[in-house]
Amino acid sequence: MSTNRKLRLGVLASGGGTNLQSIVDQCQALKIDAEIVLVLCNNPDAGALQRAEKAGLPNTCINHRDFADRQSFDRSVVAALLKADVELVVLAGFMRIISEVFLDAFPQRIINIHPSLLPAFPGLQVQQKALDYGARFSGCTVHFVDNGVDTGPILAQAVVPILAEDTEETLSARILQQEHKIYPHAIQLIAEGRVTIEQRQVRIAYAEKSETALINPPL
Ligand code: GAR
Repeated sequence: MSTNRKLRLGVLASGGGTNLQSIVDQCQALKIDAEIVLVLCNNPDAGALQRAEKAGLPNTCINHRDFADRQSFDRSVVAALLKADVELVVLAGFMRIISEVFLDAFPQRIINIHPSLLPAFPGLQVQQKALDYGARFSGCTVHFVDNGVDTGPILAQAVVPILAEDTEETLSARILQQEHKIYPHAIQLIAEGRVTIEQRQVRIAYAEKSETALINPPL
């Protein structure tokens, strides 16, 4: 068992919450030195809320529809995160744009997972966009959140080949499998204090080198 102090996570989700589940599982298995101190959803029907409930985690719904504008919604979210003493905000399928109010409260302390190899295909429906473009690879990206849409410094990526028979569903499912690996991994790197940001570059102390190139179609 790890004796390290645990990094306090606030996980924000809007949907089914499989990424939340992967983090819950890794925390419970003591594979990462972190604990989820709040699960927050903007959507009362989010499966993530049920997953949080099942795991016995503190959870709350703050419905964005109850607020006049983005800033007032974000102020309410920030208040809940501060009350729970959250140290790292983890966006896990949280489909809201983050305002300055939120960014200022957690400078360099908000991370997001996105289902493409950024900077290719920011925004929404990106698995379909990668297919429509005819890309040979897609993947997923963990990045720090800045004031753009999916533009922040990149912490981790996984590459997923696109297959001739892929549909949006099959490609999304294979990307999601990798999301469930790299998101807990990225959180652990932060928990270990190995991650620093210099301009756009995220430095990871003591990282192993990988020089393996991927080719699709294979040689
Ligand atoms: C994931 O694929 C995540 O990368 C994506 O939403 C899905 C949530 O799945 N996030 C975004 O597109 C953010 N712009 P989950 O609810 O099962 O974790």
